[in-house]
Amino acid sequence: MSVKEFLALKARKTEAALEDYVSSWNDAPPLLVEAVRYSLFAKGKRLRPALVLGAAEMASGDDTVALPAACALEMIHTYSLIHDDLPAMDNDDLRRGLLTSHKVYGEAMAILAGDALLTMAFDVLTETRFPEVIREVARAAGVAGMVGGQVVDLKSEGETIGLDTLRAMHRQKTGALIRVSVRVGAILGDASNEQLESLTRYAEHLGLAFQITDDILDAAGDADAMGKNTGSDAAKKKATYVSIVGLDESRRLLHETVEHALKALEPLGDRAEMFRGLMHYVAERKS
Ligand code: IPE
Ligand code: IPE
Ligand code: MG
Ligand code: MG
Ligand code: MG
Repeated sequence: MSVKEFLALKARKTEAALEDYVSSWNDAPPLLVEAVRYSLFAKGKRLRPALVLGAAEMASGDDTVALPAACALEMIHTYSLIHDDLPAMDNDDLRRGLLTSHKVYGEAMAILAGDALLTMAFDVLTETRFPEVIREVARAAGVAGMVGGQVVDLKSEGETIGLDTLRAMHRQKTGALIRVSVRVGAILGDASNEQLESLTRYAEHLGLAFQITDDILDAAGDADAMGKNTGSDAAKKKATYVSIVGLDESRRLLHETVEHALKALEPLGDRAEMFRGLMHYVAERKS
């Protein structure tokens, strides 16, 4: 199976399960459900659920057990995008090829749609019946993970920060959710400690590579393909790989990060072939 086919398969599976969850929100205000649906079912790459399902499948041969966690990660990710785009944060108008949530529903409803997704994610996660999985996701999404990274991102606007700080910021704001996606998939698939260890190191490099690529695409990508505006980081004087080390060096560091990720997979042998493909997909993506 090609990486594209793999991603499409896992996206279909995740979207069907997400549809079931959202359809069961009987007592929710219709406007809130509409706002949630608008962002959740817009065209996202569904990378995080694919990582959850892929890791479970690699470990156990079956990804069913990890489907709630895959949905939860996509809900948290979507909430992070809705809030990231708000005027108080990155103030962006386009996301997933559509107007951003606050442009359509107003700021209050966008904030609440994000809140609803975050809360629902933990409701869904209880289905996994593993407190450590829930805890890991909470920590990856929270103060020392995505939320913490977003704080550093906002505080670094207009500042010249060092490469170490930049890397730490990327590790939190983007890396943490990617890392935990792989980890919970592996844990739910009952991976061995050695497998979990290798996959975790892989995911840390993958997460960093993902955000380096995001920074490069903002500076040199095609807005139509990405479904969001380019040049947004420079306009806000964001601290990014491109602003700190330039485009060429960003590409070189991306290449280096890819090599580290592939190296981390070596102990897993042939079983990790899809993860190798995903690493190349992330580094070479145009959207
Ligand atoms: C965008 O994430 C935000 C970052 C963490 C860089 P994605 O590029 O995965 O966004 P979607 O889910 O495909 O829209
Ligand atoms: C966002 O980073 C990371 C999140 C936690 C959402 P960016 O602000 O660079 O993401 P985009 O470029 O708007 O998708
Ligand atoms: Mg941002
Ligand atoms: Mg942004
Ligand atoms: Mg960006």
